[in-house]
Amino acid sequence: MITFNKEKNTFRLDTPSSTYCISICNGGYIGHAYYGSKLGADDATYLTRSKEYGFSDSKIFREKGSFLDFFPQELPTDGMGDYRESALAVTDADGHNGIELKYKSHKIIQGTAVLEGLPSVFADGSDASRLELTATDDILGVEVTLIYTVFEKIDAIVLSVRMKNAGTKTVFVRKALSASFDMDDDNFDVITLHGSWARERHIERHPVHMGKQGVVSMRGESSHQEHPFIALLDHNADYNSGRVYGVNFIYSGNFVADVQKSQFDSLRLVMGINPENFCWKLDAGSTFDTPQAVLVYSDSGLNGMSRAFHDLYREHLIRSPYKKSPRPILINNWEATYFNFDTDKLLDIAREAKKDGIEMLVMDDGWFGHRSSDDSSLGDWVVNEEKIKGGLKHLVDEVNKIGMKFGIWFEPEMISPDSDLFRTHPDWAIQIPGREPGMSRQQYVLDITRKEVRDYAYECVAKILRSANIEYVKWDMNRQITDVGSLGLTADTMGEFYHRYVLAVYEMQERLITDFPKLLLENCSGGGARFDPGMFYYSPQIWCSDDTDAVERLAIQEGTALVYPLSTMGAHVSVCPNHACGRVTPFKTRGYVALSGTFGYELDITKLSAEDRALIPHQVQLYKKYSALVRDGDYQRIASWSDGKDVDCWASIAKDKSRALVTFVQVMNHPNYKTRFVKIQDLKAEAMYRVSFPDEDQNNWPALELTGRTLAAAGFPVRRDWGDFQAKLIYIEEM
Ligand code: GLA
Repeated sequence: MITFNKEKNTFRLDTPSSTYCISICNGGYIGHAYYGSKLGADDATYLTRSKEYGFSDSKIFREKGSFLDFFPQELPTDGMGDYRESALAVTDADGHNGIELKYKSHKIIQGTAVLEGLPSVFADGSDASRLELTATDDILGVEVTLIYTVFEKIDAIVLSVRMKNAGTKTVFVRKALSASFDMDDDNFDVITLHGSWARERHIERHPVHMGKQGVVSMRGESSHQEHPFIALLDHNADYNSGRVYGVNFIYSGNFVADVQKSQFDSLRLVMGINPENFCWKLDAGSTFDTPQAVLVYSDSGLNGMSRAFHDLYREHLIRSPYKKSPRPILINNWEATYFNFDTDKLLDIAREAKKDGIEMLVMDDGWFGHRSSDDSSLGDWVVNEEKIKGGLKHLVDEVNKIGMKFGIWFEPEMISPDSDLFRTHPDWAIQIPGREPGMSRQQYVLDITRKEVRDYAYECVAKILRSANIEYVKWDMNRQITDVGSLGLTADTMGEFYHRYVLAVYEMQERLITDFPKLLLENCSGGGARFDPGMFYYSPQIWCSDDTDAVERLAIQEGTALVYPLSTMGAHVSVCPNHACGRVTPFKTRGYVALSGTFGYELDITKLSAEDRALIPHQVQLYKKYSALVRDGDYQRIASWSDGKDVDCWASIAKDKSRALVTFVQVMNHPNYKTRFVKIQDLKAEAMYRVSFPDEDQNNWPALELTGRTLAAAGFPVRRDWGDFQAKLIYIEEM
């Protein structure tokens, strides 16, 4: 709910458990007054800092420097005296840097805002409302609208900024962040997510220190290395208690997320498009929308924060027809064959997979051009009939006859130097004229900021999809961007490149899901380098990591699930020793870990040992039984191996709290260690639940009957197993 106190010029944005207050202060400055636990029905104007320090119009004028440098602002601007991190920086036509915003008007409107060409949250009827707060810089003629979308049932506020050049001269926007708010430092910690290829989104937590700390990407995508998420939380906050402020960015390109602690022990948190290498030419009359940033406040620890993000994304961002239905259990041939496959091999895999209940075959990289390793053919999206004998339609028809769906891999944004496309259009690769562009995985990136290039790339994909009954696409992006130069841009617009690249990806994927509305699209980028909420708008699932090792996945999936629903995490069972790290884990454990994602297989089923193979039909049954719970339920983190525990444990709890699935992985065994009790929160306190170990010998692991209250306070026992990497599934059902 959004309310405006006209006399006091104060806005109050309320979600079920949080309040966000904005004040228009003396001089028209837009001040940030409060964000945190829900306030009582008090007049919140006393929270406005300009009054507290007795600043009047005349004092601001006299002491503007000291005023702006401590005043908590909603959208701090550059060049006027606030020396902390700014959210907005503009250069005028004569090269002067500076912009100052003063309140002009506002609107409170039902529903969500639509951002042209960008992913954006949506809502039905009264589920969301928004405040559009417009401020202007009359000298520049620039109008800036801060858009706050407030959700009625979720503790989330979505922020974006629309800039309009309402003047007569071009200006250059050098920085346009989406979110910024100031608060006192309260002994907070900061959490960010970091990694590398095959090690994405590991959780990093440390106390806030003076100066700046945060994460950035300049790689042209959200990246393996750092992630567009940052959280501030009480120093002693844990999974279930303490205050947490989480901020996430609905964007798939270069970003910055920073916390800055400055001289008066105040904190500023900002998030938006990375200003480095960014400069947007805003001609008179034109507008620019920033992507949306999502703010979540939880006073029930990290699990409360995760729940809010998961609910928001599942209900208000993912659009796919698959979002609330079971995803087909797939088998992907990448780790099974790499580039070495043909029609016969794929059909062998499909036939065997079908026997065990697997539902879809996905043909990965290597089916086009003359690609038999990663050194050629990207851009030549023509079926290689030496491998795919009889053609693609024949293969797909045969797979369908076996009773399976068919899916295919593309990397539409790329071009190999050894390709007909590059020989015909060398200028289609991103490059700086006169400079040899750098290769990565022996490939260049296509300049899809040019319309003719992205139309060509899109049409290659669409043509293949029209040629056969293809029901799934894995859209990959296997290198990061360097050597930025585009023939479509000029000296004064080259700074738009990175953002235009992301807009081009969005445009292509929008076309794809519009032209093929039943398609199941899975995004991917060398594993999980483009696992971000921007992509959820187009695909309900994203390949989480090229590391399919069950133990490595514990940390990767934990960091991912901190922000994103389990239903979005591409997770497959593969063979051991694992291809990314060489570890050997039980097939059962690999199955349980993948069951907490989209679930599938990535192995040569025709070569699997009889013992492992025998488990597949059972895992398929587990998926059928529990996938709705995992997909639609509330995620709860219980113990974390990555945080120094020797076990990892999490749960999915049905929204009506009638049932829950707990996954427990004993990562390390120790001699002479005994029972461990697992506590699960948020069940119905007085209800009686049956706690069972469905996959274990019932004589050794008898079911227990316990109330929700006891399960939260004392928990249920799990005995130690012999050996490392052992796992248990625990099913809890209301009696
Ligand atoms: C990336 C993906 C893999 C696979 C290969 C194919 O690394 O993450 O799953 O598709 O590309 O080249």
